[in-house]
Amino acid sequence: MSKIFLPLEEVKPGMRIAETIMNDYGSVVISEGTILDDHMIKKLVNLNYTKVRVIEKDKNFVSSEISESFNVSYNASVNCFKSILYDAAVGKNINMEKVDKVVMSVVARLDEKRDIVRCINQIKSADQYTYTHCVNVSLLCMLLGKWLGYSKDSLIKLVQAGLLHDIGKAKVPKEILNKPSKLTPEEYEEIKKHTVYGYRILEKEHEIDRDVAIAVLMHHERMDGSGYPTGAKSDQINMMARVIAVADIYDAMTSNRVYREKESPFEVFHIIEEEAVGKLDVRVVNAFLSNIAAYYIGDFAKLNTGEICEIVYINPRYVSRPIIRVDDQYIDLTVEKDLKILEIL
Ligand SMILES: [Fe+2]
Repeated sequence: MSKIFLPLEEVKPGMRIAETIMNDYGSVVISEGTILDDHMIKKLVNLNYTKVRVIEKDKNFVSSEISESFNVSYNASVNCFKSILYDAAVGKNINMEKVDKVVMSVVARLDEKRDIVRCINQIKSADQYTYTHCVNVSLLCMLLGKWLGYSKDSLIKLVQAGLLHDIGKAKVPKEILNKPSKLTPEEYEEIKKHTVYGYRILEKEHEIDRDVAIAVLMHHERMDGSGYPTGAKSDQINMMARVIAVADIYDAMTSNRVYREKESPFEVFHIIEEEAVGKLDVRVVNAFLSNIAAYYIGDFAKLNTGEICEIVYINPRYVSRPIIRVDDQYIDLTVEKDLKILEIL
């Protein structure tokens, strides 16, 4: 792979940005590794960029691109969810037709697990975060539900709860939600209320199952009682809320946010392994880590040394430290503790 400068007219959707693009004020416009779509290319044109540095793949590079049909349906889901959130923000009832449309298109992708994993890893623009995060969590909930053996009906409820888990953020002031600096204790208390706001929005909707509304209310509760809004513990926490918690943490940490850069999936696996102790449902965490990691085998990644490696084998007991290959050398990351996977390419 090499990095090349291309005039903006020659840049096509699907190409990957090789270097983070900053504006004159030092804010990230598009971060390194982002796969460009039409919307982002238009944005660069509007901002008067004339050329950008993109990654050119060599012929031997294994393609990690997401299928066109998946991309189309994903973008449609994100746009549809945007309008659901807008309705909630202005106090309108939730349009259940739109919710069903997104839920059904998520469930229809059940057999495209590899695309889902890649998509969640790749489409990460900070400005679209609120919308993409909710669609990503619903996709992850679908995978988790499948791996946990959920029936079709339960799976649909779980995907719906995953999609709507942060709907209450529509009622939190935008300045607080998108604040780039540290929140004050009062602002943090306000953010925490999105769980209760979400529950209130959903309890009015008689087409929404009560279990879904409860899951939305409890998705920040933790098994040891350290969560919010009520500090409920282990069995008191709704089962779907425990699944959403894992999906939510994974997607939030692998995304670029206004206040921090994204982490690599392997770094997040490590954080989840640690966080899992006492806080997350162990059965959900195990189902998640042991299944999702397999989709990264054969992928190329960048190490903290700058070298490119291939992920060769993932030990189910130590998912965050796989065996990698650099040139012809095999390296076990459980042994080479100073090496770190920075990002999947
Ligand atoms: Fe949340």
